[in-house]
Amino acid sequence: MKSRIAEKFKTLFGTEGDFFASAGRINLIGEHTDYNGGFVFPGAIDKGMIAEIKLNGTDKVCAFALDLDEYVEFGLNEEDAPSQSWARYIFGVCREIIKRGGKISGFNTVFAGDVPLGAGMSSSAALESTFAFALNSLFDLGIDKFELAKIGQSTEHNYCGVKCGIMDQFASVFGKAGNLMRLDCRSMEFEYFPFDPASHGYRLVLLNSCVKHELVGSPYNDRRASCERVAKALGQEFLRGATMEQLDSVKDRISEEDYKRARYVIGEEQRVLDVCDALNKGDYDTVGKRMYETHWGMSKDYEVSCEELDFLAETAEKYGVTGSRIMGGGFGGCTINLVKSELYDSFIENAKKEFADKFGHEPKVIDVVISDGARML
Ligand code: GLA
Repeated sequence: MKSRIAEKFKTLFGTEGDFFASAGRINLIGEHTDYNGGFVFPGAIDKGMIAEIKLNGTDKVCAFALDLDEYVEFGLNEEDAPSQSWARYIFGVCREIIKRGGKISGFNTVFAGDVPLGAGMSSSAALESTFAFALNSLFDLGIDKFELAKIGQSTEHNYCGVKCGIMDQFASVFGKAGNLMRLDCRSMEFEYFPFDPASHGYRLVLLNSCVKHELVGSPYNDRRASCERVAKALGQEFLRGATMEQLDSVKDRISEEDYKRARYVIGEEQRVLDVCDALNKGDYDTVGKRMYETHWGMSKDYEVSCEELDFLAETAEKYGVTGSRIMGGGFGGCTINLVKSELYDSFIENAKKEFADKFGHEPKVIDVVISDGARML
């Protein structure tokens, strides 16, 4: 990927720049908890974005998306917002840096990535983090890593229409090879958790339903709004920390739908903590059980699953997979599966076959390795 980028950069701009990279992410458990002030448990992966960048001494950004074969130029002022969605991520990052007082000017860039788009693996966070990290370093801005993650998150909020939490950008910036991270999204304290399923006889694999997950538009933001209404009814800033008893006490003041959304989030808070405890004890059975519970909570209460993802989770259970669930925001994308090494081959073979029989195409198998986040190459 790097050499393809370098070749294109040379052809387009006649020179060479510096290389920066960032990662997509998985999340073992803790879904839709970030914007509720709760815990998440992600890790950066060995799939991400790479960008070559060189300052060009103008006030224009000249960007080429290698995978899409598209070139866009834009200025750095608010009225220069490009219409292409990929370019809006770069534009948004620039604007958010400028809003924070960062002095930046134009640059040339070519970038490419290998995070499958729309698979719920945060290709957009990888793109934002690559540019936030790169501009911070190229312009020597001295922005700390949390603020880099927030720059990516604000880009989603202000330029891409997704009121996301901080998980994806956090994972992409802070990722460390061989480690998951438990982040408390209220205090922003976090802890690295060494995670090596292979040493316990397990493998982690994603199955991409290839149903395009799309967070832009209302459903994701609607879920968030439901949670905020319930938190308000409870007199709290966030749903974090609320109990089922408290939820029941406001049941007649909230809609049935909001009740179900909050019930899922409250359950999910506890599941993340359970999974961390279980991992500390090497108890993968409990980890797996909680993953299935998350899946069905996301499907029945939070209603962010689809027929294909439910089918994949059911198939996993049928073939003895320890844990399986929708990963990320939902509405399509992947399941994340924790499977005993000796069951891996038969699970993959059967899941492919049964899925193809039902939906006419195979799910894509994505093996992931927990890797480093944003960095200069
Ligand atoms: C998307 C958002 C994250 C998070 C997840 C669900 O990936 O970007 O902030 O809310 O969905 O856990």
